Amino acid sequence: MRMTAAVMYEQGLPAPYALSQPLKIEEVELEGPGEGEVLVEVRSAGLCHSDLSQVAGLRKRTLPVVMGHEGAGIVREVGRGVTGFKPGDHVVMTVGSGCGECVYCVNSRPVLCELVSASRTKGVLMNGARRLTRGAMGLYHHSGVSSFAQYAVTVPGTLVKADPAIPFDVAAMFGCAVVTGAGCVFNAAKVRAGQSVAVIGLGGVGFNAVMAAKITGASVIVGIDINPGKFALARDLGCTHTVSALDADIVDVVRDLTLGGVDFALEMSGSKAAMTTANAVTRKGGEIVCVGLGATGDLYHYPHSALVAEEKVFRGSLMGSCVPQRDLPLYMRYYQEGRLPVERLMSGIFRFDELNLNLDRLEHGEVLRQVLRPHG
Ligand SMILES: NC(=O)c1ccc[n+]([C@@H]2O[C@H](COP(=O)([O-])OP(=O)(O)OC[C@H]3O[C@@H](n4cnc5c(N)ncnc54)[C@H](O)[C@@H]3O)[C@@H](O)[C@H]2O)c1
Ligand SMILES: [Zn+2]
Ligand SMILES: [Zn+2]
Repeated sequence: MRMTAAVMYEQGLPAPYALSQPLKIEEVELEGPGEGEVLVEVRSAGLCHSDLSQVAGLRKRTLPVVMGHEGAGIVREVGRGVTGFKPGDHVVMTVGSGCGECVYCVNSRPVLCELVSASRTKGVLMNGARRLTRGAMGLYHHSGVSSFAQYAVTVPGTLVKADPAIPFDVAAMFGCAVVTGAGCVFNAAKVRAGQSVAVIGLGGVGFNAVMAAKITGASVIVGIDINPGKFALARDLGCTHTVSALDADIVDVVRDLTLGGVDFALEMSGSKAAMTTANAVTRKGGEIVCVGLGATGDLYHYPHSALVAEEKVFRGSLMGSCVPQRDLPLYMRYYQEGRLPVERLMSGIFRFDELNLNLDRLEHGEVLRQVLRPHG
């Protein structure tokens, strides 16, 4: 079928993106669904900071690629052999599913699945197929999802059923922002009631971590950002304190609030300066959970002897260390119970013609999650 999609041909074009237009809005062709594949009509797709980093060229992608890695929509057709989904099902599109058989998958760590990483790098679906073309040119899939498009062909593992009562614009955010932020708290940090947490970087991901930390019963939740415009909502959604990342005394301020430092510092901005702060505000025996992503190959500095003597832990967390089929239904239930009010994070709904401009808005830190409606 022919459809409209956002294609990236080149990384590293200069900002402002409203001028350089790194994402081309074009008519492309989509084939399938083949055997074991699902055709989804994409109703909403969220714009993540990782999209921005890839546009900026911080992490290389196989090009040209149809962008977008979180979304929600309706199953329109299933290929031969698909049993778990049927036309009409509402689904969240996410990237964390695995092959189900490798050592990581059987240990409930599907985001580490070799097949997921290899297919992401190659820009193909997890079954190795490519279904997108423009004339004679093959296009690649982004993280097996490619949700900045009117339709997507994907494999069932990237889909999680959603209650049709959840609006698509909200459901879309579960695909990356929610699963990454909340999953970091529940699966990676495993925060317990009474513990203290600092969330550094109050964006789409960070706000979900704040709300999840509140659910765990964390006693102190410190929100930290360079933009004080985020603080009122942060306090509303669970932060007990907010501190400016630009405050010269930030380390002392956070240590004073938490009797020597937080149990968990969650780095969710992708900034090196924030990693230094995260380490410094973590108490002895605490954990620094690293979620923000800088450029591939970037090196970070830390005081090694203090890490040893203070028994601190650095922990990476990809996609909230999730098991999508286990975690997303739970987080959607929290949303429906009003405990994870994800709808508060929506900064705006937009159409394809505003996609590049909205990359600029995200870069300027003016917004939380902006949601694309590919059908207008
Ligand atoms: N690990 C994963 O699986 C995963 C998944 C999604 C996103 N990410 C990464 O997480 C980060 C956050 O993504 P997002 O979509 O929430 O981004 P966002 O742009 O919505 O939010 C980032 C926030 O960080 C703040 N910030 C910037 N520099 C800071 C600093 N020095 N100190 C404190 N705050 C600072 C910004 O003001 C903004 O509020 C990005 O690096 C993104 O690539 C990682
Ligand atoms: Zn993302
Ligand atoms: Zn696997």
